[in-house]
Amino acid sequence: MTTIPIPGMLDPHVHLRGMQWAHKGTFASETEAALAGGYWAVLDMPNTPPSTIDRPALERKLAEIAAQALCDWGLYYGAAKADNWGTYPAIIDDVCGLKIYNNATTGNLLIDDQAIRAQHYQHWPRSKVIAVHAEDETMRDILALVRQYRQRTHFCHICTTYEIGLLRAAKAEGLPVTLGVTPHHLFLTEDDIKRLGTHGLMKPPLKTRADQAALWQALADGLVDVVESDHAPHTLAEKSSEKTYYGVPGLQTTLPLLLTAVHEKRLPLERAVALVSANPRRIFGLECPPDTYTLVDLGESFVIDSAWLRGGCGWSPFEGMRVRGRVRSVSIRGTQVFDGESVRVRPGFGQNLFGKR
Ligand code: NCD
Ligand code: ZN
Ligand code: ZN
Repeated sequence: MTTIPIPGMLDPHVHLRGMQWAHKGTFASETEAALAGGYWAVLDMPNTPPSTIDRPALERKLAEIAAQALCDWGLYYGAAKADNWGTYPAIIDDVCGLKIYNNATTGNLLIDDQAIRAQHYQHWPRSKVIAVHAEDETMRDILALVRQYRQRTHFCHICTTYEIGLLRAAKAEGLPVTLGVTPHHLFLTEDDIKRLGTHGLMKPPLKTRADQAALWQALADGLVDVVESDHAPHTLAEKSSEKTYYGVPGLQTTLPLLLTAVHEKRLPLERAVALVSANPRRIFGLECPPDTYTLVDLGESFVIDSAWLRGGCGWSPFEGMRVRGRVRSVSIRGTQVFDGESVRVRPGFGQNLFGKR
């Protein structure tokens, strides 16, 4: 048995739901999935209604997550279609960063007007990161804003050879950019959609084997900064219905999938660990609190099944896969919060890593 400690695991891209989408998942249920996945902390996106684009919506979300969270957390603010940059000075101390949705996805925060995007880039305080959903050609528009305003920008869920090429060039140019890739784009391709059906639908969609190979190459050569789950639960009933719901859960499966790649010698252990801990912490300026670490057994393998899954939705696109790496324990600030089977703290234990409160 080889058990190793991983300090302060952080997932900088999750959709915990709650509020008007509490039927999909709650801050309690999804932070339990985070602990079972080994995470110390998660950063939650602003697209759950009511969208986090004004002070009252932020207050409501802060109150709900503070009462329920089992792990530490931060909240993104959302860029609105209409002017909400006037609110930035009043919210900046309470959030981890700004999220701008530049292509259609779950929620109603799409901004496709470059002049509006530019206003957000101009007004956002430079102390915190801007994270963007920008697929394919849209990335060029965002890179133009990064070049003009020099705002630190994190590109979420990068998944094609073309996108990797753009960011390789942007980094070579010295632009302040970072990028994340998701486990579903690393471990699944469009060939899996036939088998997965609607469970294989998310934004951006699954790509080709050639795109997948480019992602693994970019992980190996150090271009990729983080692996982010983009945990986006929808209920089984929704996912099986006529209407299309984009998004898949991932908080509990990210670490075992990466450790399986380590076991198969597709990725060095140190790099896999950095992608889910030190690297995301560095991007968001977070220090690992004292005595905050995950113990994971690298030797044990198991099959992902619905009975093992925590969180509200109860399904995963990775069901049936044999993976390696069992989370044995998670400790946060000296308290054991998860013992491999059970959560050992009450809802509300988790702290806001960015708020003054
Ligand atoms: C996300 C969601 O459901 O909130 N969906 C998805 O398919 N990834 C939104 C997003 O990250 O684009
Ligand atoms: Zn997105
Ligand atoms: Zn997302």
